[in-house]
Amino acid sequence: MNVEEGQTVEEWAPVTTVRSDKATVEITSRYTGVVKKVHYAVGDEAKTGSALIDIEVADGVADDVPAVSNNDDAPSAPSPPPPAPAAASAPAPAPVAAAPVASTPAPVPQAPAGRKKSLASPAVRRIAMQHKVNINDVHGTGRDGMVLKGDILAFIEGGKVVAAPAPVSSSALVGSGASIAQDRTIDIKGFAKVMVKTMTAATAVPHFGYCDEIDMTALVALRGSLKDQAEAAGVKLSYMPFMLKAASIALTKYPVLNSSVSADATQLTYKGAHNIGIAMDTKDGLVVPNVKNVQNLSIVEIAAELNRLQKDGAAGRLSSSDLSGGTFTLSNIGSIGGTYASPVLVLPEVCIGAVSKIQRVPRFGENDEVIATSIMRVSWSADHRVIDGATMARFSNVWKDALENPGSMLLHLR
Ligand code: COA
Repeated sequence: MNVEEGQTVEEWAPVTTVRSDKATVEITSRYTGVVKKVHYAVGDEAKTGSALIDIEVADGVADDVPAVSNNDDAPSAPSPPPPAPAAASAPAPAPVAAAPVASTPAPVPQAPAGRKKSLASPAVRRIAMQHKVNINDVHGTGRDGMVLKGDILAFIEGGKVVAAPAPVSSSALVGSGASIAQDRTIDIKGFAKVMVKTMTAATAVPHFGYCDEIDMTALVALRGSLKDQAEAAGVKLSYMPFMLKAASIALTKYPVLNSSVSADATQLTYKGAHNIGIAMDTKDGLVVPNVKNVQNLSIVEIAAELNRLQKDGAAGRLSSSDLSGGTFTLSNIGSIGGTYASPVLVLPEVCIGAVSKIQRVPRFGENDEVIATSIMRVSWSADHRVIDGATMARFSNVWKDALENPGSMLLHLR
C-alpha cells in the first residue's frame, strides 16, 4: 500500500500495486480525500471487487477504491497502469472499478479538461478492436462515461459497423483478471460440532409448528420509556427480558411446556425452574445459554443476566452451568431479520419459540380504521409426541396477551 489511514490522497495518485496471476497493475485513487480505512495489508489476497481503501471526500461522504473486478465492463487487473491526468493532453485515465459500497455515492470526479479519448477497460478495448470499432466513436454509459461491453455491442447492433465481427475469444470475454476461488475443506469443531449432534438428534422428534403475530405497539412504547432509566442503572433493556417474563407467566399456566421427555420417551418430567434458554449468535457459532429461574426474577434482573450472558458469549467464556439445565428456549432471530422460522427443539426440552423482527405495518382497528401497528411474528415448535396443538395455541395466547398488555406483567413482579 502506498497510503495509510489518515493520509490525504489526490485523485489519480497511486494507491497500491496489485498483482494478478498474469500481470501487475498500479491502482490509482478515484477521489481526493482522506484515507479512512485500509482494508488490506501488503501481501494480502484482495477479493475481486472488494474495497481496498475507504476515502472520505471533502463533503464528508465516504467511498472506496475497490479491488480489481473480473466483470467485463470493469477494468481488469492486468490493465496497463492508468496514466495520471496531470497534463491536459494526457491519454484518458482508466480509473479503478466503480462499485462503491457506501450508502451515499460520492461525487463522480470530472474528466480532466482536454480529454479526447474514451474510457474503457482493456477487455472492452479488445472487443472493440476485434469488431473494428473505434472506441472513441462509442457513447459510454459507465461511470465517468466509461465505455462498457454493452455499449460496444449496442453500437454494433445499431448498424454503425458493417465489417463482420472477428471471433471473440472466451478468455477475452471472461476478462484476463478473472480468478477462481479455491475449494476449502475445514473440520467441523467446537460449537458447530455440538450443533451437528444436537440438531441431528432433534430431527428424530416430530415437531408441531404454530405461528401467530403479536401487536407489540404498547411494549415498544413502554420499553422506549424505560430504556434510558435502565441504561442509567447499567442495564441494556431490549425486548427479550419482556419476552422471557411473558414466557414464564405462560409456563406457569401451561407447565407441560416446561417439561422434558426421557431419552426412551417413557417419562415426562415437569421442571420446577423456568430456565429459559436464548439462542445466541456468537463468533464461535450458535450457543444456547439460559437465564435461570426466570419465574423469580424481575424484568430488569432478567435484562441484567441477559446482558452478562451476551457479554460472556461474545468473549467465548460462557460456563457449562450457563449452557446446561435449560427448560424452554426462545430464539430472537428478529434481531437479525426475517418474519417466520422453523425452530428446532433443544432436546430434551419440548418447546422452542422464534420471534421475528418487530415491523411497523398497517392493521385494522375496531371501526375498520387503518392503524400503524408494531407487529412481531412468533413461530413455535413443540414436541408433538407430548404436546398437542391446542395446548401450544393456548400457551401462545397467554404469552401474546402478556406482551400485548405489558402492564399486566406488573402483577407478576416479585
Ligand atoms: N425486533 C426489533 N428490534 C429488535 C429485535 C426484534 N425482534 N430484537 C432486538 N431488537 C433490537 C433491540 O431492542 C436492540 O435495540 P436498542 O439498541 O434500541 O436497544 C437492538 O435490536 C440490539 O439487540 P440485541 O443486542 O440483539 O439484544 P436482544 O436482547 O434483543 O437479543 C440475542 C439478544 C442474544 C438474542 C441476540 O443478540 C442474538 O444473538 N440473536 C440471534 C439469535 C439467533 O441466532 N437465532 C437463531 C438460532 S437458530
